[in-house]
Order: sequence, then structure tokens, then C-alpha cells
Amino acid sequence: MRALLNGGTLGGRAMKLRHQPDGVIIRALLPKDVELFRSLRLQALEDSPDAYVETLEGARDCDWEARTGRLFVLDPPISVAYVALVRDLPVAMIIAGHKDHNDSPFLAAMWVHPDFRRRGIGRSLVDRALVFLSSTGQRYVSLWVTESHADVFQFYESLGFERTGAKSTLRSGSEITILEMARALSKISLRSTRAAGA
Ligand SMILES: CC(C)(COP(=O)(O)OP(=O)(O)OC[C@H]1O[C@@H](n2cnc3c(N)ncnc32)[C@H](O)[C@@H]1OP(=O)(O)O)[C@@H](O)C(=O)NCCC(=O)NCCS
Repeated sequence: MRALLNGGTLGGRAMKLRHQPDGVIIRALLPKDVELFRSLRLQALEDSPDAYVETLEGARDCDWEARTGRLFVLDPPISVAYVALVRDLPVAMIIAGHKDHNDSPFLAAMWVHPDFRRRGIGRSLVDRALVFLSSTGQRYVSLWVTESHADVFQFYESLGFERTGAKSTLRSGSEITILEMARALSKISLRSTRAAGA
């Protein structure tokens, strides 16, 4: 499991993920990355407050040591954060997780720094997160997108996600509508196998 999270292997074979942009390192968040995690999340909430359930104020008040530590309590883990670095500068993140085997697999907290968008970094992070979920036996994955964020729908549609028809509000008392998207995970193993054999 650790090898999968850090190095990227699937089914015992070395795996090359598609679309890994040049000069970008994608790796799993480590227990020591408390400040990196906090910094990326606060930047995301400052940049795109309507994209996330959590508020900037809530994140500022959070115990980040404990929050980071929760990702590493279980072995194998049920939640993983991946970060993207360009020349050691953290520029993007994603969280993937599931509550139990085959239950509620999700992607969350997807964010790429505005100066680094449209370079394939978001796609690479989603690819990595889908491989993690697939490796834990998940068969589908879902996420929520703010209704007015047409660019984000295009991003996830380009990665095989479709709207499920489910809708909700961003958070209690909010008038912002969010829509669910989902995709099957069977495709990921086919795609990864092909990439590994390339
Ligand atoms: C959505 C987001 C994560 C995309 O990250 P990114 O690194 O720019 O995405 P990629 O470069 O990997 O794009 C992959 C594909 O998605 C689609 N896409 C991405 N951004 C798009 C945009 N603004 N408009 C239209 N299509 C877009 C394109 O098909 C793109 O492929 P192409 O560049 O070859 O045409 C980024 O814009 C972001 O962080 N937005 C703010 C935070 C947010 O809303 N997060 C989602 C929470 S649910």
C-alpha cells in the first residue's frame, strides 16, 4: 500500500500515469507535511471560497496537526491527500477517500494554484487519486461541484465524470447549489494497465 501511495504501482507493475506534466512532482502527503497541507488548503479557500463546504475561517481555526494526523491513523489508509510540487513549490492538492470497503468513495479539496492551471496538474492528481481508490476495491467515485462553476464541470467531464442528478446546498444557510458528479472506476484499471504496458 505504501508503495502505491508514494511510488505508483498497481497490481505489482510499475505504473506510468498519463499526463504527468514535465517538471511536476506528485506525491502523497506525509505526516510531516502539516504546514504544507495547511498552506495549500488556506490558499484554496481564499482563492475559491464557493468551491468548498469548509470556510476559510473554519480552516484557520482548525488543529492542522490533528487533521493531518487523521490521514495516517489507519493502515491501510482510507483517506489520502496528494500534492503537486513544481521546483519544490506546492501548487495543488486533492483528497481521496472512502468510509469503508465499497462505501462512499469520494474526491474532495481539489485545487490548483491559478498560475499553474491548464498544464495537466489537476488531471494528474485525479488520476493518482483514482488509482488509490481503485486499489482499495472501490467501483465508483463521486464528488460535488458548485452549479455555477462551468469550468470545473468541463474539467471533470474531460476525466469521465457525469452528473448524477443529485443536488444539495454548499453548506447550511447557503444559497449556493452544488451538483453531484460520479464515474465508474473500472476504466481506471484498464487505462492504467495500458499505460503500464506502454
Ligand atoms: C478545476 C481545476 C482543479 C482544474 O485544474 P487544472 O490543473 O487547471 O486542470 P488540467 O490542466 O488538468 O485540465 C484537464 C482538462 O480539464 C478541462 N479543463 C480544465 N480547466 C478548464 C477550464 N477552465 N475551462 C474548460 N475546460 C477546462 C480541459 O479539458 C483540460 O484539458 P486541456 O487543457 O488539454 O484542454 C482548477 O481550475 C481549480 O483549482 N479550480 C479552482 C478550485 C475548484 O473549483 N476546485 C474544484 C472543487 S470541486
